Amino acid sequence: MNDDSQKTPNHALGEMKCPVSLEDVDLFGPGSQEHWYEAYEILHAEAPVHRIAGEGFAPGGDAFVLSKYADIARVVKDPERFRTLLTVAIDAIRPAIEEANRAGTEPELPAAMNAMIVSMATLRPTQELYRAHRQELTDPWVGPGATRHTAMITRAVDELLDPLIDRGQVDFVSEFARPLPQLVLATILGFPREDIPQLAKWGTFQVMPFVYGKGPRNKLSREQMASQLEALEAFGLYVEDQMAEKRRRPQDDMISFLTQVTYRALGRKLSDVEIIGVVYAMVIGGLETTQYALAEQAQLVCEHPELYQQLRTASSRLRPFIEEAMRVRAPTQGLSTRLTTRDEIFQGVHVPEGSLLHLRFAAGNVDPAEYACPHEIQLDRKRVGGHLSFSQGPRICPGAGLSRLEQTIAWSRLTKRIKRFRYAPGNKFLHQPGIMLGTLELLLDFDPAPADERGRRSE
Ligand code: HEM
Repeated sequence: MNDDSQKTPNHALGEMKCPVSLEDVDLFGPGSQEHWYEAYEILHAEAPVHRIAGEGFAPGGDAFVLSKYADIARVVKDPERFRTLLTVAIDAIRPAIEEANRAGTEPELPAAMNAMIVSMATLRPTQELYRAHRQELTDPWVGPGATRHTAMITRAVDELLDPLIDRGQVDFVSEFARPLPQLVLATILGFPREDIPQLAKWGTFQVMPFVYGKGPRNKLSREQMASQLEALEAFGLYVEDQMAEKRRRPQDDMISFLTQVTYRALGRKLSDVEIIGVVYAMVIGGLETTQYALAEQAQLVCEHPELYQQLRTASSRLRPFIEEAMRVRAPTQGLSTRLTTRDEIFQGVHVPEGSLLHLRFAAGNVDPAEYACPHEIQLDRKRVGGHLSFSQGPRICPGAGLSRLEQTIAWSRLTKRIKRFRYAPGNKFLHQPGIMLGTLELLLDFDPAPADERGRRSE
């Protein structure tokens, strides 16, 4: 194999050097993405509960990085004891929203509190309503009900593969992993196809804190926040137009559904701002995450050609493959979303009440106390799929059903249509900044499968 096509160790490439001791570990600095997995080994061995002084939610408070599987699972399964930051923020703005509702006016909220926060405050402020919101509003489209999209997703995958299949080369990120979730989500929401490039730009603004935000709280600068706000306002106006059209002529799509549905838990229809909020949440959650999962899986099949051949010979292996891949390369590496409501002890470390918890899902997924040979893809692992990449417990990612389906169909079609993948020359294997595992570019060579093996599935 040409030297260029070998996967270069990431630590040779980033701005930050590979950490060798705890003092070197910084999960949030520029270039840290290139060494996260080395950092997790150090954290597991030396500081499984790692304090970051002064980075708490309240002034003067601290943040703590949790990297052990058991600790993270315990936190996410108990939302009363470990409150989400959003619930705390929502409690703070609820009086203003309720007052505005009584007065029939727009709530006076700080500019940063956008429609998504308003919709969370009105549609799902409590754990009970959170459950109802999921069951009634999102499950039928992006949760268990996502299977209704099987034929559409299969068509989308083939549509992306058709123009490149005979070329034998692809930038897997820009030509497949990124456009697939864009195409799928736009179709589910009911946005016209020609708007996808613009929607993709808005999507980029929405995830800005997770890409350009600094430190464990993903803080944006004033200028960044201003540009984000401006873009999001334009997106809000766009969704409003779409809603108006769908109220006039409802179609079989999620936005039409949201304009028609009676939310039984509250016994009423949704307001425009609430619908915009739900749509925002879908776009923030539903694009890049699945892109990153697919791009990591492509790297794994290049690194393990025998694994790819196993996937080609039995479709029953696809599901364990995508689960194991999401475990060893979690798309959302970590989130600072929980606060302690009382003093806690994790791994013998005292964590005071009111501390911010940074849940490092990716580290928990490769915790040697939970998984033997944690970095190995083992399709026959017990509890395959029991990873933390979608979080767990009552607030587990509501779009997990859709993402799993997209990934499974993608690899089902790829394994049918492509015989083998190899790294092409020129890859740098560098990642975007932030807290997501986003490979920037992935140049692959591949051998198309002979025509008689490519048969399209009838799903
Ligand atoms: C590989 C793909 C994905 C990954 C790794 C992922 C991961 C996550 C994680 C870790 C959370 C936080 C859960 C918690 O706080 O406990 C989350 C929340 C969320 N995800 Fe996903 N997600 C993915 C795909 C999707 C898709 C396809 C959608 C929608 C179409 C989506 C929508 C959401 C939403 C709306 C939330 C926030 C829920 C809340 O308010 O608590 N995600 N996701």
